[in-house]
Amino acid sequence: ARHAAITGTGSYLPEGVLTNFDLEKLVDTSDEWIRQRTGIVERRIADPDMATSDLCVRAGRQAIKAAEIDPLDIEMVIVGTATPDTFFPSTACYVQQGIGAKNACAFDLSAACAGFIYGLDLADGMIQSGRYQTILVIGGEVFNKILDWEDRNTCVLFGDAAGAAIVQGTDEEKGILASYIGSDGDYADTDLLGIPAGGTRLPASHETIDNRMHSIKMRGREVFKLGTRIMPEAAQRALDMAGLTIDDIDLLIPHQANIRIIEAVGERIGIDPEKVYINVDKYGNTSAATTIVALDEALRSGRVKPGDLVLLVTFGAGLTWGSTLIKI
Ligand code: ACO
Repeated sequence: ARHAAITGTGSYLPEGVLTNFDLEKLVDTSDEWIRQRTGIVERRIADPDMATSDLCVRAGRQAIKAAEIDPLDIEMVIVGTATPDTFFPSTACYVQQGIGAKNACAFDLSAACAGFIYGLDLADGMIQSGRYQTILVIGGEVFNKILDWEDRNTCVLFGDAAGAAIVQGTDEEKGILASYIGSDGDYADTDLLGIPAGGTRLPASHETIDNRMHSIKMRGREVFKLGTRIMPEAAQRALDMAGLTIDDIDLLIPHQANIRIIEAVGERIGIDPEKVYINVDKYGNTSAATTIVALDEALRSGRVKPGDLVLLVTFGAGLTWGSTLIKI
């Protein structure tokens, strides 16, 4: 059967590092609190003149190089992001221009933290249908510009990053073996997780700005519970689709939101903790970028090798969730 293989990956982490100690000077928090509750030690912050597409272009170029293809071979550019450069044009069109993918169609995908895994699912279907052969899927965010730097409940949690994957059709038994995505709009609530203003519900006004409604809002404990419930279910769905069990998996890459969520998910799924990838300590929650940045790191460091089975699983605002089972 025809499969969608990941033939190259790339990532970009901005150079600027913001430590928990730096945050102690901005809000009433402590390194100890942040470490204990979240596992985050530091995060990367993009320069003020950088928008999401600038990070995505850098990650995309690296993936193109790793896959040894020409940008002109790319037929579709999908950018999963919750922090687009502009409402429109799409971030993906800026990325298309930046990498010179003149032959592609390009569009954004809105699924919050699940954006990359949604993009992979789409690419998988497009390739299996036979209509497309080479697709660039990116998850990228500049979260620092949608944070309320006076709200300690949220500003300590997030960071900026982009990750990219070239997905190509192959007749070999490898690549995406199973992919599953889901949503539940009953949880579409900007106070649970989201940004209340700036869209057509509450357009920007002096009032929305004065009331700080253009930055992320979150009820952390509820999100925590949802994540620990949904990610194990999503992971199991992909395993069932492929007829595999968790014991077959060489590396689990869960969405990097919080170390305690990651550990709880690992425990519920029943996987050896050594097989769970963690980099939330270095980068914080980079939303749509977390799983692909982690996969890129795992490939480049040799932690995963050809033939290994890797399971990505995520959840995000919407709610949205998904899982991808990949044979490297
Ligand atoms: N520093 C110090 N104290 C803080 C901070 C901070 N940065 N933030 C909150 N507190 C305080 C709270 O005000 C609260 O004080 P109170 O009891 O006097 O009211 C106290 O710490 C404890 O708050 P809890 O909500 O009980 O803390 P909890 O253990 O739940 O940890 C956290 C909070 C880290 C936000 C946790 O709930 C969490 O990680 N939730 C999930 C967040 C998440 O994953 N979000 C994104 C997922 S989807 C996506 O990626 C978009």
